[in-house]
Amino acid sequence: MLNDVKPENANWRHYFGGLAFLMIILQLLTGLFLIFFYEPTLTDAYKTVQRISNQIYGGGLIRNLHRWVPALLFIAILVHTIRCFLRMDFVNQQKRVLWLTGVLLLLPILFLIITGLIIPWEWKGYWFLEMIPNYFGTLPVIGDSLKLFFLDSYTVPRYYVLHILIFPMITFILVDYHMLTKLRKRGIFRYLLKHAIVVLPFLILLAYLAITIQIPSADPEEVPLPLDGANIIVPEWYFLIILLPFMYLKNSPLIPFISIIGPLVVLFVVAFMPYYLKGREVKEEDSTTEIQQQAIGWRKLIMGSIVKKVATGIVVTLITFCIVGLIYLGSYNSPTFGCNSCHNLSKGERLGAPPQFFNDRSKLPLLNDNEWMMKHWYYPNEVW
Ligand code: HEC
Repeated sequence: MLNDVKPENANWRHYFGGLAFLMIILQLLTGLFLIFFYEPTLTDAYKTVQRISNQIYGGGLIRNLHRWVPALLFIAILVHTIRCFLRMDFVNQQKRVLWLTGVLLLLPILFLIITGLIIPWEWKGYWFLEMIPNYFGTLPVIGDSLKLFFLDSYTVPRYYVLHILIFPMITFILVDYHMLTKLRKRGIFRYLLKHAIVVLPFLILLAYLAITIQIPSADPEEVPLPLDGANIIVPEWYFLIILLPFMYLKNSPLIPFISIIGPLVVLFVVAFMPYYLKGREVKEEDSTTEIQQQAIGWRKLIMGSIVKKVATGIVVTLITFCIVGLIYLGSYNSPTFGCNSCHNLSKGERLGAPPQFFNDRSKLPLLNDNEWMMKHWYYPNEVW
């Protein structure tokens, strides 16, 4: 039978699923810590973030963990997804809910990353916030009103509530359907403990990254150079790759299709795959369809022998490296730390903190210019 094999004994799919779950828990814990010191206001958000980094005991480490966990979470989810794809879980009727909730989970997690980028409310957060209405503004028909909606509805506290309450709740509900219901019977803590031990190398890597590659937070005392950090891996910036069409496609009408409509359609088509592939099964009046048999065949093939397991391992690793590599190359030029070299308090209030009138495009017309925005991010030492 399909379900007789305990996944964690048979393959590594479960390993990365477990890693992802652990990362979500860790993000919850580090986030809880940050809540006690962060103030979601236009004027104080960045100051409190600086205080967390520089004055609160352990604050710097916790904040940087909170920045690095999503990067590991992303990789864990990626490997987990590739494995499930290769195993053709989407034709496995017993895994329908697992598949659906797993795919849908990508949405709240993406929104958590986006809001998490914004709420420190320094120049990167400000910049990112301004790109969202621009993005939705490219949509045909509803674009203009969506843009206005986003511009009007921004406030730091609102995005903070989304970040610490609304999206975590949605994530939790989906995680519950995805795995917790089943896990409760088996014992959540035993599961967590077991996984914490098997993923120990990743936890060590995480601690290493959070300690050695920290976000600079000493300005204006120590002002970085404009290109400081250009080649340093800074996790949150890799997620900004979704904005790249603005730079490479300029003002092409293709942008909304490539970066909003297309991905959404793919997401929902993929999420509901087990449901409409099931339609075929009913017609054939047989309990196992050709696709399912193929899936069983695949499973045997994959789990059958050590050699094959190693082979899939290599395929999964290769695909993962390709995707991660593309993302890495996409944001390679970005001078990640350099923003503070010009945007710091010693250059005056105007460049020190994002302006209070941040959503007034009549006062800040440059923010409507997507190309300028992208180039200022990529080459701030040239375009400003
Ligand atoms: C070489 C100095 C310099 C660097 C480095 C720099 N900026 Fe700027 N930035 C400026 C100047 C000057 C302006 C004002 C341009 C204007 O209003 O004409 C500006 C404007 C902006 C604006 C437009 C809105 C506003 O309030 O004027 C944003 C957003 C922004 N910068 C974000 C960033 C980010 C994010 C980085 C890091 C990638 C960065 N900047 C790096 C000098 C710099």
